[in-house]
Amino acid sequence: MKLAFAHAPRPFTYEGEIPGDKSMTHRALLLGAMAKGRTEIQRPLRSADTLATLELIRALDVQVEERDGGWVVYGGGPFPPKAGTIDCGNSGTTMRLGAGLLAGLGVEATLVGDDSLSRRPMGRIVKPLRLMGGCIGSHEGRAPLTLGPREGSLRGLRYRLPVASAQIKSCLLLAGLGAKEEVTIREPLLSRDHTERLFRYLGVSLEESWTPSGEHQVLLQPHQGSSLVGKVIRVPGDPSSAAPLAVLTALIPGARLVLHHVGLNPSRGGFWQVLKRAGVEVVFRQEREEAGEPVGTVEVVGPEAIESFSVLPEEVPHLLDEVPVLAVLALKAKGVSSFYGLSELRVKESDRVSAIREELGKMGGMIVERGDDLFVEGGHLLRGARVSSRGDHRLAMMLSLASFLARGEVEIEGAEALSVSFPTFRDVLREMVEEAGGRMEVLER
Ligand code: S3P
Repeated sequence: MKLAFAHAPRPFTYEGEIPGDKSMTHRALLLGAMAKGRTEIQRPLRSADTLATLELIRALDVQVEERDGGWVVYGGGPFPPKAGTIDCGNSGTTMRLGAGLLAGLGVEATLVGDDSLSRRPMGRIVKPLRLMGGCIGSHEGRAPLTLGPREGSLRGLRYRLPVASAQIKSCLLLAGLGAKEEVTIREPLLSRDHTERLFRYLGVSLEESWTPSGEHQVLLQPHQGSSLVGKVIRVPGDPSSAAPLAVLTALIPGARLVLHHVGLNPSRGGFWQVLKRAGVEVVFRQEREEAGEPVGTVEVVGPEAIESFSVLPEEVPHLLDEVPVLAVLALKAKGVSSFYGLSELRVKESDRVSAIREELGKMGGMIVERGDDLFVEGGHLLRGARVSSRGDHRLAMMLSLASFLARGEVEIEGAEALSVSFPTFRDVLREMVEEAGGRMEVLER
């Protein structure tokens, strides 16, 4: 895709909604498959990643009906002994959470993924699943994952995650649903807690606590799977999809963005905090709770000038997927912005740390990578260039936004990755750019 923006940005107001939360849609499908009765998933994200999870539960003979743009899932089993080969595509969440669910059920299956997913570390779930008695193999700690048959329930587990990761935590909680003993998971910092919230919403009792050293701990009692009962799950808008729109707004002084029904879970809220520190006005309104999750309207106003900012290691789990678009904000800030402790970004759909530096660098961005830290010097003019998303949807969004700042045509290779989490991104971006008095030309698909 080639993008060219012609504009003299003027303030605008853009009001709308964004697609459903990706993390929550995966979990709603997986827990819907486990819960007795009928789970109605309203406003789910329909994207390549979540459709992979839909296929995974269908491979478990779970019946899913289409209803008003959402899905009705009839869960609770019985589950087949074998589910064959399941293609998780690009989706780490499908593979890791799916492996936990299958290991807990003792269903024989092989999980495969695309090139990017096949490079990502899976030892981090294989090891603890084996400690629970799960029968799971990998190819040197990577996909494909092979799940073997097993008689009887999994054992309990007491485990400290080596990194704060919602995918590992959720994998083990899903496996633990049928375990015959307690499962206790400790993580160095709180990663997104959608699984814990949805467990509770659907009837599972879960104890959460904090250790004196500030670590987060979850305790799941044995045999909790039978407590899950289907309900209506209304999926809020994905804050990670709100983020690029908020950054575009922040780049235009006086521009105003109003997004309704956005997920406001604090464990995903680091992005809004950083935006405020950069001098951007951010207001939450009509806050309420739906399906155990805080939800509300977010309003963002673009400031006259963007201040440079720092992101600290302890904040990273709460803005993990927003670092690429924050790097674009930093390109427009006065001075140097710093991002510390990004090691987990190296094992995402691409190595996002070096990709941010190299790809934005091709457009003239001044970015230094030191260890797992990034330093972005704002205020330099960006130029047209040929860049690559490296097949990573978050980078495709980052590069589309950066194109808005560039003089000249930007050719983004692999822009189709946008379909992974925000299939309508390009249309929304175009609408916003037009509201800003500009013109966005997609010169090539
Ligand atoms: C996700 C957790 C995050 C995030 C990913 C989705 C999830 O990864 O980056 O896009 O749905 O659990 P971690 O496992 O590193 O927290």
